Amino acid sequence: MTVDPATIRRLYGRSKGHKLRVGQQAMFDTMLPELAIPEDGPLDARAIFGNDSPLEFEIGFGSGEHLAAQAAARPDTNFIGCEHFINGVVGLLGHIKDAGLTNIRIHMGDALDALERLPDGSLDRLYLLHPDPWPKAKHAKRRMMNHGPIDMIAAKLKPGAEFRLGTDHPIYCRWAMMIMGQRPEFAWQAQNPRDFLDRPEDWPETRYERKARGKGHEVWYFRYLRQ
Ligand SMILES: C[S@@+](CC[C@H](N)C(=O)[O-])C[C@H]1O[C@@H](n2cnc3c(N)ncnc32)[C@H](O)[C@@H]1O
Repeated sequence: MTVDPATIRRLYGRSKGHKLRVGQQAMFDTMLPELAIPEDGPLDARAIFGNDSPLEFEIGFGSGEHLAAQAAARPDTNFIGCEHFINGVVGLLGHIKDAGLTNIRIHMGDALDALERLPDGSLDRLYLLHPDPWPKAKHAKRRMMNHGPIDMIAAKLKPGAEFRLGTDHPIYCRWAMMIMGQRPEFAWQAQNPRDFLDRPEDWPETRYERKARGKGHEVWYFRYLRQ
């Protein structure tokens, strides 16, 4: 299935924050060229990682603590992480360096540009954790949880693969449930409320999630299986 990312572009907001410190700049200059996915053309996971291990993908990894924890827990799985905020990318590089991880590759830019270049049915899992909520109704089209991006996510997941969504935002939560309720290719895995109110053991906490809990917010954990 072909979905043109130009028609569903979701890149809004800033890509730079505070200036990088000298050590961060050095990591960025030396590590990112080694770990970045190729800039264009179809993405071939075997060529990128040198093996045929399962492949997982994170959209908007923030500072990368979730992605790094997943990669450390499962060294025999490959991960592509996407983030357009440079300070977040440097955060992930720091985790990769500290833990000596070899199973992560990075796309610094719009996640949908990288996703589109993967073969259909190639992903074993996709994570969308605390996407920007764009709470105003007039900005609803900017939300990642819309049918255009979900078309692409559905196309790239294998049958039986998992799509994980986390949010602490009540408007986003309702919106996401509405969108996913209209998607017969996905089966929501919750059997009872605890299944989406309690963080699954194999779902490491993200920085944004920790901040949300610190503010007393409830956090919702959605797991959908691609049919
Ligand atoms: C609210 S933050 C959450 C970060 C992280 N997932 C967490 O839970 O801590 C959303 C992140 O998504 C990133 N983002 C938004 N749209 C994106 C896109 N189209 N491609 C890649 N990253 C994106 C933002 O830069 C930001 O870091």
